[in-house]
This record gives sequence, structure tokens and C-alpha cells, in this order.
Amino acid sequence: MGREDTHGLGYRRVDDDPNVAVLLATMEGTARWDATRRLRSWERDQLGLTGGERLLDVGCGLGEAALALAEDLGDSGAVVGIDASEEMLRGARMNARFARCRVRFTVGDACFLDEPDDAFDAVRAERTLQWLADPATAVAEMVRVVRPGGRISLIDTDWSTFEIDVGDDELAAVVRDGMRTERHRPSNIGRRLHDLAHAAGCVPFARTEATQTWTRWDPDQSPAPLGCFSMESLADDLVSTDRLALADRRRFVSTIHDAARRGQFSMRLTMYAVVSGVTDARQGSRLTSP
Ligand SMILES: C[S@@+](CC[C@H](N)C(=O)[O-])C[C@H]1O[C@@H](n2cnc3c(N)ncnc32)[C@H](O)[C@@H]1O
Repeated sequence: MGREDTHGLGYRRVDDDPNVAVLLATMEGTARWDATRRLRSWERDQLGLTGGERLLDVGCGLGEAALALAEDLGDSGAVVGIDASEEMLRGARMNARFARCRVRFTVGDACFLDEPDDAFDAVRAERTLQWLADPATAVAEMVRVVRPGGRISLIDTDWSTFEIDVGDDELAAVVRDGMRTERHRPSNIGRRLHDLAHAAGCVPFARTEATQTWTRWDPDQSPAPLGCFSMESLADDLVSTDRLALADRRRFVSTIHDAARRGQFSMRLTMYAVVSGVTDARQGSRLTSP
């Protein structure tokens, strides 16, 4: 198995990653998760976009979600996607070639949106906040660029919900404890989306969650379960944080791989979604007028 098959997944600086192709392919994988599909469909219902509206996707990645929502905007609507990665945007522009409405995919920073106040009817961010040092600033920026009466949609993973069951309680506990510790990024942000939106002056009006479950995976065919990191990189992560002894690393990986080969592998991860209204003028005074 090559290093490109085993490295961890990091989306802070995609373009600097030697395995950028893996990062892009993994995004395509996560778009196929049942949980992702369910949350995007739910989001579409909640946002209720209509013809002529303008949508911004912050950290749009390959643009698939924004382009699916664009179908509700008709010919006269507009979609803007911003992302820190030119490589992601290259993919997004390819995906956009059959879009009906105006589409612009551009490099940008979620915490400093280069867009005017009140420029959009709806703004979304999916699995972007978990990569930011300051998610609250990014949400405040989303609020700034939405017009009063507009909507904000936040979707994110909560990695503290991640569990592996291969019939080994000790291994399951190591994984659970390792993932429950938030380290260099707000990876447990999923469950905090409601509070983040509320703190930014939004009025959350709908929330839901969806759990992705993997029960089938052949480690001899695919280096990692669909849209996920490899078990080698998970082991490296647990070793680096002293959850797993280096001497146990090989056994950790082979226990999971062997169980998967026997069909005794189960893994789960929960994602959360919140859709909010933005009710009045600027951030800070955007709360409903008396
Ligand atoms: C896990 S991917 C999610 C992509 C897409 N939203 C989706 O759900 O398919 C995270 C994305 O956030 C982007 N990103 C990370 N930091 C960013 C920042 N500071 N500003 C804008 N985008 C950022 C990455 O380049 C990557 O495309």
C-alpha cells in the first residue's frame, strides 16, 4: 500500500498537500454517503430557494451541493462558491459547465469574505467550519453577506461521534477516546452549529442530524472505507496522541482489516445540520426588531 493510500485527510491547505488527488477523490466519496445525501436533500427543502435568488457556498469544494441547489434558482439566479483551494475550484468549474444560472467559483477565505453586505439570499457552509481556527468569525461573515430575511445553512461532522465496532471493546474504546478529544481544529463542531448560528444573531428554525454507517469494506480492494481516512492513518493519529502504543499499531490495523475481511466491520459517524433565518440589518443588530 503506497503512502498516497494511507495518509491522513486534511482540508486546511489542500493545494499544498502532496496527495491532493486523494483529497479530491475523498470529497467525491463523501458526497455519496447516505448521510450527506439525506442532509443535502433536507437542506434543500428547508432553504426553499426560488427563481432569481443568489446563493453563496463557503468552502464549496467541488461545488456539487451548490450546483444541485442551483437547479432551484432558474436561469436568473446566481451561485457563488468560494474555497481556499484552487484545485477544488478547478473541479467545481468542471462540474458547473452545464449549470443553467450564472456561476462563479473563486478563491477566498471563509473568515474574510470578499463579498458586499447583503449580497445573497442564502449562504451555506458544509464541512468547512471544522477546518477553521475561528468558526465564529466565518459564521459572522456569512451573516454579513446575507440580506435581511435571508437564510443560512450550516452542515458539519461531529468527529466525537465516530465509532468502530470490530468485536473488540478495547480497540473501540481507544478509538472513541481518541476521537472525543478535540485537538488542532474544532472537529467536534457538528453539535455546536445551533449555538454558533444563534450567537451570530441568526434565528435557527430547523435542525437535524444523520448518521453515516459503514458495514461493508474490503481492505484488499480499497485503502479506506468510502470517503474516509485509512486505518493506518487513524492508527498514526492515535499513536501521535499517546492513545495507542507504537508497539500495538500493527495489531490495531490488522484487527480492523481482518474483521472487515470477515464482514464483521461496522463504523459510524454523525453529521448535523441547522438552517437559520437572518432577520434584520447588520451582525450584532440583526436580531428581530421589537
Ligand atoms: C471537507 S471539504 C468540504 C467541501 C464541500 N463543502 C463539501 O461538503 O463537499 C472542506 C473545504 O473547505 C475548504 N477550506 C478550508 N479552509 C478554508 C478557508 N479558510 N476558507 C475557505 N475554504 C476553506 C477546503 O479547501 C475544502 O474544499
